[in-house]
Amino acid sequence: ASLLLFLAELSFSSPPTYQWKDAVTNEKLTCQQCPPGTCVAQHCTRDRQTVCQPCPDLHYTQYWNYLEKCRYCNTICEEKQVEVQQCNSTHNRVCQCQEGYYSEMEFCIKHSECPPGYGVEKLGTPFENTKCRACPRGFFSSSNSTKACQPHQDCQKQGKVTNVPGNQYHDTLCTSCRLGRSNSTQGPALADDDCEQAMIDFVVYQNIPVRKLKRLQQILERSSKKQALGNRAAVQEKFRAFLTHLKEGHSEVTKELLSALRAAKLHSIEEKVRERFLL
Ligand SMILES: *[C@@H]1O[C@H](CO)[C@@H](O)[C@H](O)[C@H]1NC(C)=O
Ligand SMILES: *[C@@H]1O[C@H](CO)[C@@H](O)[C@H](O)[C@H]1NC(C)=O
Ligand SMILES: *[C@@H]1O[C@H](CO)[C@@H](O)[C@H](O)[C@H]1NC(C)=O
Repeated sequence: ASLLLFLAELSFSSPPTYQWKDAVTNEKLTCQQCPPGTCVAQHCTRDRQTVCQPCPDLHYTQYWNYLEKCRYCNTICEEKQVEVQQCNSTHNRVCQCQEGYYSEMEFCIKHSECPPGYGVEKLGTPFENTKCRACPRGFFSSSNSTKACQPHQDCQKQGKVTNVPGNQYHDTLCTSCRLGRSNSTQGPALADDDCEQAMIDFVVYQNIPVRKLKRLQQILERSSKKQALGNRAAVQEKFRAFLTHLKEGHSEVTKELLSALRAAKLHSIEEKVRERFLL
């Protein structure tokens, strides 16, 4: 610390110097430099030290110098940038990417969102893009977002049962439909809405190949039009929305779904559904 103090004092007491050849006598002189915020008005002579002058508006010098003109504040903030440091006599203007953008190779680029299955690990800054990471066990993210992954819900806490376990891409799905071979002699007849929805959810999130999921939807739509491409999670969400919509339209969706499973040769899944929902 004492050394630092000593150096600070030294630099304070004796400004840096520069060599200058006197134009008249051709004599080599050692001149004092000018402090930040000023530049040289007149170089030193044999009889007189350097004369410094303050920088004019919109000009600066950041360091001790022997410039004859101050530098122009030449940084201009572009579109998508904001000025974070004004031009003054000692500093050039400083620009930074505006909120929601980061700088890459002199451009301001919008922060990325994390895709489904991923959550924000570190929010973007003006200098760095968003950092995402795959949702850990017990958490999910079902959309493009700039949020952290959400924890799966706990069905028991809600007095319900787990119909579909959650994964990285979707939440755990609970149901109030009494599943499986319960004590009661008559199983859930899929009469109520909860049970129909439970069956839809159960089928949608089975480990069915994307190709087969699309086939199922084609059969149910009675159409041959090609389904849009997408990853499994996206196709599952679309298929789920489609079935839910179908259910709201009329009541035969469970029967139709079962026969569609058969038509698509998804026999083991059809079996699972029948067993689980006692059909
Ligand atoms: C110029 O701006 C810089 C950074 O904002 C600041 O540290 C410095 O004190 C200012 N100088 C003057 C002379 O106002
Ligand atoms: C996420 O964003 C991508 C690219 O912008 C887009 O193609 C995709 O449909 C979005 N997905 C969701 C679930 O919003
Ligand atoms: C099933 O029924 C028996 C007798 O009626 C009863 O003792 C038992 O608690 C019931 N179990 C469940 C899981 O409801």
